[in-house]
Amino acid sequence: MQTRKDIFILAIESSCDETAASVVKNGREVLSNIIASQIELHTLYGGVVPEIASRKHIEKINQVIEEALQEADVTLEEITAIAVTYGPGLVGALLVGVSAAKAISFATGKPLIGVHHIEGHISANFIENKELEPPFVCLVVSGGHTHLVIVRDYGEYEILGYTRDDAAGEAFDKVARAIGLGYPGGPKIDRLSREGNPEAIQFPRAKVDGSGYDFSFSGLKSAVLNYLNSCEMKGVEVNRADVAASFQKAVIDVLVDHSVNAVMEYGFDRFAIAGGVASNSSLRAAFEAECAARGIAFYHPSPIFCTDNAAMIGVAGYYEYQRGTRSGYDLNAVPNLRLGER
Ligand code: KG4
Ligand code: ZN
Repeated sequence: MQTRKDIFILAIESSCDETAASVVKNGREVLSNIIASQIELHTLYGGVVPEIASRKHIEKINQVIEEALQEADVTLEEITAIAVTYGPGLVGALLVGVSAAKAISFATGKPLIGVHHIEGHISANFIENKELEPPFVCLVVSGGHTHLVIVRDYGEYEILGYTRDDAAGEAFDKVARAIGLGYPGGPKIDRLSREGNPEAIQFPRAKVDGSGYDFSFSGLKSAVLNYLNSCEMKGVEVNRADVAASFQKAVIDVLVDHSVNAVMEYGFDRFAIAGGVASNSSLRAAFEAECAARGIAFYHPSPIFCTDNAAMIGVAGYYEYQRGTRSGYDLNAVPNLRLGER
């Protein structure tokens, strides 16, 4: 049922290799969540090819938006505002979503709201955890980002730590490629690890000098490559499941250690995870156990809201709308947009 006060956000996301649109009602109710994934296309090349991503977004964007409205049973006239990811991401990919959102905003006269992609990932936690409110600590782990953040309030973030080199998802993807699993590596390593021994190989748990909350994964990736090379040189057969499980454990140990330290040191009692890597089953289990042992309430989105989607942009867009954020028609794609920056 629709009341006059209901707020409907039409959200668009095209920062990487998913063309997505969604309608979100009153900030936390997802009426539709349409995702056209290009993964199969990019698998052919072992990773996302930016030019191909942009072209595919152009082909799909109108169709995906129409489907989102149809499934939500909401017309463009009933939409309150249009939210769109404007960074960070691939510039040519972002531009497709931004242009579509601007065109709809201009044609309908509805407000336009540019949303930060990471703010979207964090906000995905509000969809299924209706009781979750800021402040809390959130670990964002995706293909492009690894951020440990205090969510002070809706739209207000304090970054405690970030990765100095590879993002967690990037490390998963690179190691997966090295052991012949293909793209995208995260879900494949997740699956193969279930058959392996996480204690079989001792890979390094990287510490960053001078910062307890920053991350570094390139050393770990190199350690895995060195291990594979040395096996090859010695003619020893590699147990891929053991490599996957031991690598995954090394990533998870560091993520859990830094996050739990931050939650305790800053005196919070709520912790959330977000981003594609947050759908990892062992990562969730490790956080669940560690948070339970320390009396920290642990939140995570369902896998479909962890990887890129537009519903999360709709949720973030709703809270930005409530805060009075409005974007002009000069809104541009900002590939390196920092969290908290506008
Ligand atoms: O959030 P996302 O969809 O896109 C970015 O904003 O980057 O994250 C994609 C990343 C990829 O690196 C992918 O390998 C990783 O998330 N990923 C996973 C899992 N599912 C996706 N990593 C580990 N375990 C998973 N189950
Ligand atoms: Zn993402």
